[in-house]
Amino acid sequence: MSDKKKTGGLAGVSAGETQLCTVGKEGAGLTYRGYDIYDLADRASFEEVAYLLLYGKLPNSRELAAYIKTLKSLRGLPPQLKQVLELVPGDTHPMDVLRSAVSLLGNFEPEGDFSNQSRVADRLLACLPSMLLYWHRFHTDGKRINVETGDDSVSGHFLHLLHDSKPSELHRKSLDTTLILYAEHEFNASTFAARVITGTLSDMHSAVTGAIGALRGPLHGGANEAAMELIQKFKSPDEAARGVRGMLARKERIMGFGHRVYTVSDPRNAVNKKMSKMLSEEAGDTHLYAISEAIEKVMWDEKKLFANADFFAASVYHFIGIPTYLFTPIFVCSRISGWAAHIMEQRANNKLIRPAADYIGPPLQKWQPIEKRA
Ligand code: COA
Repeated sequence: MSDKKKTGGLAGVSAGETQLCTVGKEGAGLTYRGYDIYDLADRASFEEVAYLLLYGKLPNSRELAAYIKTLKSLRGLPPQLKQVLELVPGDTHPMDVLRSAVSLLGNFEPEGDFSNQSRVADRLLACLPSMLLYWHRFHTDGKRINVETGDDSVSGHFLHLLHDSKPSELHRKSLDTTLILYAEHEFNASTFAARVITGTLSDMHSAVTGAIGALRGPLHGGANEAAMELIQKFKSPDEAARGVRGMLARKERIMGFGHRVYTVSDPRNAVNKKMSKMLSEEAGDTHLYAISEAIEKVMWDEKKLFANADFFAASVYHFIGIPTYLFTPIFVCSRISGWAAHIMEQRANNKLIRPAADYIGPPLQKWQPIEKRA
């Protein structure tokens, strides 16, 4: 294989330094600012993790209480933004709604100079669920909901707005854990897109708008929705195994499997899979979890491909009553913490990101007047 082929898609190429995250590093695995993902998933709340990423350290209890209070105070939406959300068609993909909503927020609340960047990050973290679910509830129930709930957590706020009632602690905690797992992942495509935009000294809303566009695709964040659609196609584990073997024979891609950096497993999968099993038992599910496991087995047996974070996240969300088309937007509500931390890190030591390309087009051509062209 030529060197060019090997570096296609910048695979294995280091494109800069970061203090935020290691992915699959020998002896470290997945860490956020040096903390192991399993410790964070087990013991932290999403707000603690967001604070760690954005402010550089785990908060003490006073700092955490103040941070929760701040986030709660930033959930409201400008009335003009609500009006626009009402005008956006109800059948728009919610990722497109979020992409437009973040861009519009940048019109109503421009960042200006970068002295308020932490405040802009907190504002986005606090109000992304409000934007998403204001639009969703207006178009599904015809209701203009109050987005300023008294829930302490982002996960509680999200589920409360979605279901119009406080969630059970099991469901809230499950969503919270997936938010922790999705929060940060080094130079993934959407984060890198945000850093490229930031590198031109553009504003945070522009960088996040671009990142949402990158996350939307099924090779990145969109995989969790595609995984759910696949799982739901099958009625039994046997049918799923046969179906997936057939897809592989036809060289189709199975979303929720494989990874650019990890080679044998995605550490986030173990946590999601355990939660999916527990929630499946709680829901009295008789087939969805078993079908997921059957697909996982075929993918490993046939292709040595492992489930990534998106595969079992899909059934976790399904079991807590979240419609499939909101799965990737949840990823946004979490990854905003990582994106904003990277945007601030990029600004702290900025250099325009502008790589070179190897030209493979035609040699120098002689100019042809239009009447002489073939
Ligand atoms: N299903 C089927 N085959 C897959 C696959 C999948 N999910 N992921 C990789 N492969 C195969 C490719 O077809 C390719 O086979 P080939 O060499 O015979 O052509 C080989 O594995 C390498 O894949 P490639 O796309 O070149 O690797 P990559 O590092 O660029 O891909 C992903 C990484 C994530 C884009 C890829 O694994 C994928 O498309 N996964 C599904 C989407 C997904 O879950 N995305 C979320 C990632 S967290």
